[in-house]
Amino acid sequence: MAIVNASNLNYPILIAETIYQQIDWALHIAGQQVCIVTNEKVANLYLNDLKKTLNKFQCSEIILPDGEQYKNFDSLQKIFQHLIENYHQRSTTIIGLGGGVILDIAGFAAACYQRGVNFISVPTSLLAQVDASVGGKTAINFQQTKNMIGAFYQPQAVLIDPSVLQTLAEREFRSGIAEMIKHGFIADKDYFIWLEKNIDKILQRDLPTLKQAIATNCLIKSKIVQQDEKEKNLRAILNFGHTIGHAIEAESHYEILHGEAVAIGMMLELPLSMQHGLAAETAARLKNLLEQAGLPTALPVGMEVTQLAKWLRHDKKTDKNQSIKMPLLKAIGKAYLLNCTNFYL
Ligand code: NAD
Ligand code: GLY
Repeated sequence: MAIVNASNLNYPILIAETIYQQIDWALHIAGQQVCIVTNEKVANLYLNDLKKTLNKFQCSEIILPDGEQYKNFDSLQKIFQHLIENYHQRSTTIIGLGGGVILDIAGFAAACYQRGVNFISVPTSLLAQVDASVGGKTAINFQQTKNMIGAFYQPQAVLIDPSVLQTLAEREFRSGIAEMIKHGFIADKDYFIWLEKNIDKILQRDLPTLKQAIATNCLIKSKIVQQDEKEKNLRAILNFGHTIGHAIEAESHYEILHGEAVAIGMMLELPLSMQHGLAAETAARLKNLLEQAGLPTALPVGMEVTQLAKWLRHDKKTDKNQSIKMPLLKAIGKAYLLNCTNFYL
């Protein structure tokens, strides 16, 4: 079992095949009650296996519809209703079983229910295993605006079974690779080079390669989060590609997946770094790796940058002077932040 040594995060990140069968749940669940939050697709695949391992607990589940469009108040309300109807007390533990959408909603429900109950993250998509499960950002979208209502709320544990990635749809799998590439590009040059060498094995879903990649991503992210949990400064480098990316997601009505939007967003945010001295060759390496991963690097036909302005104005990172802290790159692995006024507005 790989244990990510994120010593300042007060929770373990455990990575192993059939992880839920291997762990002693009592070490991570304080009370007797558990509520699993998942969606229809993931429930069909993994809910029964997970529930079997929780037979010592009083366990209920809520199964939400699948999709980013359900990352909303309605889903949150359904969770609260379920928790209340099933008499879940303050000592209950919510387990999020699913991709980033489920983890973001379930984590936020845990942050709010009875002013905060324990939360365990069981990510099942690549994107959630390499990114969304670590760091404690939880949220729902509001009126199409991404992640507008949410909380920083850390889990008790993150339990990652990389073998579940074998059932993930190809497009979703590639979407997760975008965040892996982002982590290497902004914070770890050696990892970026490793990705350049191992991208084919990753695309083949070779399990040992995936395990190594997931552990490296969790470590890169947790090192940043432990220095700046609430995104006062440094953590904002993780938003590379996300300012434009979130606008693209919203403008496409979530037809474009999160990782795809981040891939395009990184390419559209990169010229800013080049205006400040980033070598064109470095930008070409990013584009090349994204393309090898089968990710888009330009806006889809019919979508113009000018259409994104309305979303950028609503971006929660934009301040009253229309200024936004943008991540820029000096070189691979060396990101920094710059206050930009009227970015793309
Ligand atoms: P998702 O949650 O929609 O999952 C993608 C699809 O894969 C869904 O249809 C899901 O049901 C399915 N799926 C999940 N696991 C599966 C499996 N093992 N086998 C088969 N199908 C499976 O999307 P995502 O890409 O996981 O996450 C994107 C979301 O995460 C966005 O809402 C984004 O804003 C959020 N996010 C949050 C953070 C954070 O730090 N909190 C970071 C990055 C992204
Ligand atoms: N996905 C960006 C962050 O967690 O900070």
